[in-house]
Amino acid sequence: MSLFKLSPKSLIEKKGKEIIVGITAYDYISAKLAEEAGVDFILIGDSASMVVLGYEDTFPIGMEEMLVFSKAVSRGAPNILRIGDMPFLSYQISKKQAIYNAGRFIKEGRCHGVKIEGGEEVLEIIAGITKAGIPVLGHIGVTPQRSIELGGLKVRGKDRETAQKLIKEAKLLEEVGVFAVLLECVPSELSKIITEELKIPTIGIGAGPHTDGQILVFHDIVGLFPEIRPKFVKTYLKGFELFKEAILNYIKDCKEKAFPEERHSFKLSEEILKNLLK
Ligand code: KIV
Repeated sequence: MSLFKLSPKSLIEKKGKEIIVGITAYDYISAKLAEEAGVDFILIGDSASMVVLGYEDTFPIGMEEMLVFSKAVSRGAPNILRIGDMPFLSYQISKKQAIYNAGRFIKEGRCHGVKIEGGEEVLEIIAGITKAGIPVLGHIGVTPQRSIELGGLKVRGKDRETAQKLIKEAKLLEEVGVFAVLLECVPSELSKIITEELKIPTIGIGAGPHTDGQILVFHDIVGLFPEIRPKFVKTYLKGFELFKEAILNYIKDCKEKAFPEERHSFKLSEEILKNLLK
């Protein structure tokens, strides 16, 4: 495996040449599927808080869970660039704590970089992490870890002031050394401007067709999380219904004694069977 393919620099090379495709993954199987399908990178997203752990938002998930998921993804997709998502409160307390936790994603989770939500307020922290040799993916627009402050998860950048703030923050993130900027739920005209203004790639989720790359949550793509279906998601499979149908058929087979059949069973030899109760 070329080490370059596992470096975030490989994404910068793709800007203007090919669309970068990312997906989230949280376990061995979702990672293996992503690697075999050939995505450009995997994000071990803090969306695991909802789609894997069943919480209603991303606040409860912590470093320990994120590391368990990162390790599983690294085993399932050893040949793909993997980015760990820094969970709420893993980087806000101090620069030292942020560098330490980012380092844990590399050292224990075997990731190749980390993602941090936020703009101006996290620049110093990001500078510290990149100085430690850890690549950072920026994340602006809708930043769920700031949803209490922002008053929800509404599209950001629709008014002139916020749009200008987002353009400024994207440029500041580039200056401070992030390898790409993730734009979540911003108007497509704005993400076009940001994409044109930056030398590094933009990765969009709900940011329209003009970004350098796209990312979606694994469970949304395969239809395994039907509770919430945002406008920007395209679902390629009715995963929940299909999995449920398989379980319904299994229950029916068991109840009707159609499963297990002879071919699913182990046998004793005639000899042992004959003498067993003697
Ligand atoms: O955790 C997540 O799934 C994300 C998305 C923006 C991709 O951060």
